Amino acid sequence: MVHRVLILNGPNLNRLGTREPEIYGNVSYLDLVAGVTSEAAGLGLEVDIRQSNSEGEIIGWLHEAADTGTPVIFNPAAFTHYSYAIADACAMLTAPLLEVHVSNPGAREQFRHHSVVTPMATGVIAGFGVDSYLLALNAISRLLLAKA
Ligand code: DQA
Repeated sequence: MVHRVLILNGPNLNRLGTREPEIYGNVSYLDLVAGVTSEAAGLGLEVDIRQSNSEGEIIGWLHEAADTGTPVIFNPAAFTHYSYAIADACAMLTAPLLEVHVSNPGAREQFRHHSVVTPMATGVIAGFGVDSYLLALNAISRLLLAKA
């Protein structure tokens, strides 16, 4: 059975590659999508990668994951730190939820130290650049295999 994983990205992540490269690196969002797609194929996972700058659209996608029992790898971007609406939607998920960040928010400004999503997450991977997503894919693959 091929597992499907939803990978959701919050605001400004479509600007990867040009956005503050000293923090987020030089890899573009399109390169991230290509890297994630190829890693997923190697793991035998089917991925659906989406990005939105809109809180409501992301909440709709989380509802979809809740309704279909789909595992989620989620970089909520700035919503991480304050969106209770997104946290509430994450609370409805039944399959594993992995929170990922390109940077290590815990090593940055004070307002980034708190995540409202972490209490709902199975685990958090942060600080490895875009490799955080590849590590999350490997982690989710191991979780799904352990459950099979
Ligand atoms: C981020 C970290 C957040 O604090 C920030 O608001 C982002 C990106 C990351 O991937 O490092 O937009 O989630």
